[in-house]
Amino acid sequence: MAAPTVDWDYVERAKSGELDLRWLREWNSEWGVKATPSRVGLTMRDIAIGSYGEIPETAPRRTMAPRGSEVDADVPDMGYTLNSKTDVWADNVMDLYEEGVSRQWSATRDIPWSEIPEIDPDLEHAMCQLCTLLSEVEMIASDFPAKWMWRINHDYVEAKMFLATQIMDEARHTEVFRKRALANGGGLGKAKAVTESFLKLVLDAENYAQGSALMHILGEGLVLSLFRAGELISPSPVEKKIFRLCMQDEARHVAYGTMHLRYALAEDPDRIEEFHQYLDGGEEMISALFATPEVVEPIAVLAAGSVDGAAVMGGQAADMLLGRVIEEYLQRCDRAGIDRRSRIKIPDVLGNYDAAALGVTSDAAVSGLN
Ligand SMILES: [Fe+2]
Ligand SMILES: [Fe+2]
Repeated sequence: MAAPTVDWDYVERAKSGELDLRWLREWNSEWGVKATPSRVGLTMRDIAIGSYGEIPETAPRRTMAPRGSEVDADVPDMGYTLNSKTDVWADNVMDLYEEGVSRQWSATRDIPWSEIPEIDPDLEHAMCQLCTLLSEVEMIASDFPAKWMWRINHDYVEAKMFLATQIMDEARHTEVFRKRALANGGGLGKAKAVTESFLKLVLDAENYAQGSALMHILGEGLVLSLFRAGELISPSPVEKKIFRLCMQDEARHVAYGTMHLRYALAEDPDRIEEFHQYLDGGEEMISALFATPEVVEPIAVLAAGSVDGAAVMGGQAADMLLGRVIEEYLQRCDRAGIDRRSRIKIPDVLGNYDAAALGVTSDAAVSGLN
């Protein structure tokens, strides 16, 4: 495409007072469409009015022009590859963006770091190992959206804006768990290849749909359930606050992923096998994580309150938590419109869930050590 050139004739006319003014007189916008602020202020939903609120099924152009503006015919092609609403949209995305903006917090200021008590060394180690894992996995949820964001058509700008809030949220999660590992003398623990393999699966996803299913639904869903169990595994009120604040953020990311998958499947139910296959692969990796000492044992020790307690209980302290993780995952899949009960690859003996009670029938799930 040829670079734009200076229109010197226009410059001369304008300098002599002959303004162009076609931008003013030939204005085809929805004059008179006036957004009314809601109780909290002027939200993205408040301005999704008239033609401005119409989200095209297929983007007519690949430009950065604001949706609803009058676009020059010769605008350059930005090369976007996600040009359909089903690629990225979720019906709750505008609200999630607003919530993401309004509920930002500071890992520096909002955590009472000086109030972490002296903790039994084993529990401190367990907390630090868990923080190492979390600091490691959180950043994938920045890297993955960042990798795909520029490919998303600007007509779906609200989805891009939401992902921008997620990228900031996950930077803060990486930060807060790194800070917790270093705040009480424990330091960072072990980073495992099995964890990195799951992160690579997400980062290397062939398309946004695959990566979003693996990350928003499966990975972040499991992390959300873990944060929800913060009461059970926090050695002090400081960690409880960390988990509670992270949980708010994580719930938004999972809500986007769930509603995005729901939208994609509602628009094209024939894609369900595609998504089943994405989750098959992801769940197999999660199974390996659930059989990794550095992943499950810190949770068991924290939940039991001691190493001896965790050993005596044979992991039962973590059972309830992991069982809830799987239960919530299956419910999340239900909400997204994909029933995983006949497909789930996480064996019940690893996920510590009651397959019969949850209606799980897949061979992979019930053929573990039982
Ligand atoms: Fe996170
Ligand atoms: Fe997240």
